[in-house]
Amino acid sequence: MKQQSLFLDLNDAIETRKPVNVSSVPKRSPFRYPGGKTWFVPTFRSWLDTCHPKPALLIEPFAGGGIISLTALFEDLVKQAVMVELDQDVAAVWQSVVDGHATWLAKRILEFDLSRESVLEELSKLNANTREKAFQTILKNRTYHGGILADGSGLLKHGENGKGIQSRWYPTTLARRFNDLNLIANRISFRKEDGLDVIQEYSSRKDAVFFIDPPYTAGGKKAGSRLYRHCALDHERLFSLCETIRGDFLMTYDNADEVKVMARKHKFQMRLIPMNNTHHATIEELVIGKDLSWMDQHPAVHEPEAVYKVSSKKKSAPAKRSKQIKRS
Ligand SMILES: C[S@@+](CC[C@H](N)C(=O)[O-])C[C@H]1O[C@@H](n2cnc3c(N)ncnc32)[C@H](O)[C@@H]1O
Repeated sequence: MKQQSLFLDLNDAIETRKPVNVSSVPKRSPFRYPGGKTWFVPTFRSWLDTCHPKPALLIEPFAGGGIISLTALFEDLVKQAVMVELDQDVAAVWQSVVDGHATWLAKRILEFDLSRESVLEELSKLNANTREKAFQTILKNRTYHGGILADGSGLLKHGENGKGIQSRWYPTTLARRFNDLNLIANRISFRKEDGLDVIQEYSSRKDAVFFIDPPYTAGGKKAGSRLYRHCALDHERLFSLCETIRGDFLMTYDNADEVKVMARKHKFQMRLIPMNNTHHATIEELVIGKDLSWMDQHPAVHEPEAVYKVSSKKKSAPAKRSKQIKRS
């Protein structure tokens, strides 16, 4: 029933050409992750619904806050998930969960008396072991601007609702999320490696699906660079690897010309889907895959217009006279 109502949510939102209302998507991740894909959960569910036979394995090569893998496991959409993340702080959290320290983390969160001083003291501790580092990561993620862990980020001063450093610290909720992760921890395989190498490793598995959400830095775009410590990526190699995937994949990107050029070159399909960004503006994100016809039932989802430059028959025609053909 719950699942059905979420599909209705997606359809309702799309009928009115508005982004999906995510308030009904269970928040499973202990992170508030920049570029997080909670808003994409209903679409992700619709996608897996179209996969026959049901995939056994989900690979998430750029896991970040991991909402997609966690949802897939909690809702039994796949049996196992391989989560990959290069950032050492984020990796410490997922490694600790997989190693059975989620309950310890939940307790540590509940017992922590949060103030500016206590946070600074905790974060100054060097030589932390993996689970202590995981706690430091959650603390940073919840008390830094925008949850950003990359260098250059810093502690919230005013925070939301004037609650300053406390404004995103919900100990009971966070502890519950960690305790709940114990239910699925043994179905996660976590790898602190390069996501591209892991795609290559699993590309021949027919029973694997890939949810690929790279940093949005194609064409030298700055957006992803401020948000993540690891933001440089060989986007062209990523697209080439996607061609080798024998199962299925879905990739999300910013609606940038450089990305669309690569997608067309590799003969993938594209659709644009509306979402609300952190400034509450509605923008469109790009979804890329092998066959996205299942998305066409939703009127707010559409193909990006392709602009092809066709040179004029006249040899000497100047470039500005070239004709532009739009594909709708
Ligand atoms: C757009 S975010 C993913 C957000 C995630 N889908 C979520 O919902 O939270 C991209 C992530 O990829 C990670 N990353 C960047 N380059 C990577 C690489 N080569 N291998 C693995 N992870 C990488 C970044 O640290 C960042 O966490």
